[in-house]
Amino acid sequence: MEQSIQQLLLNNKEWSESKIKSDPEYFKHLARIQTPFSLWIGCSDSRVHPDSITGTEPGEMFIHRNIANLVINTDVNLLSVLDYAVNYLKVKHVIVCGHYGCGGIKAAMTNNDHKYVLNMWLRNIKDIHRLHRKEIDAIPDEEKRADRLVELNVQEQVMNLAKTSIIQRAWKYDNSPDLHGWVYGLKDGLIKSVFHMDPNTHIDPIYEFEGL
Ligand code: CO
Repeated sequence: MEQSIQQLLLNNKEWSESKIKSDPEYFKHLARIQTPFSLWIGCSDSRVHPDSITGTEPGEMFIHRNIANLVINTDVNLLSVLDYAVNYLKVKHVIVCGHYGCGGIKAAMTNNDHKYVLNMWLRNIKDIHRLHRKEIDAIPDEEKRADRLVELNVQEQVMNLAKTSIIQRAWKYDNSPDLHGWVYGLKDGLIKSVFHMDPNTHIDPIYEFEGL
């Protein structure tokens, strides 16, 4: 499994040559324009490869990844990606995809001090745990408790998308995009759909902006 850095570059050369061999125009087409159908917000975990697990090719999916696939309303990186994907690329779908066995979720369920920046990031997951505390803490099995928090986290992150004026404006004027909450299974390679919001969905009115 372990590859040297040099090997990565050799692999790249081989890949480029094989692509050109099967289609001499491949990179010319790809370099000209990208019209992705969806935005993927996923976990940085090395075992979750968005394009491999969904069978998509370069140019088909706009991708943002961070630890535990969080949508934080002060994260300028994520919001810039969302703004560009929704308003310029006009993606039809935004997918938040978590995964069972997520290390970020598990870490947030402990009382361990992960030091400075990680503590800040994982705090957002602890808030979701608190919000759904009754349901989660009633599950006797530790692994199943974490799995349920993975699902609820994805649901809350989709709702966080719907709380942004970026999504609310797009829903009003473009009747798009649909928002999806998915969870990927590391053990079977299958994606489970756990939550969905279409452009006609209403969230708690305290989050709805007037005069968009
Ligand atoms: Co993860």
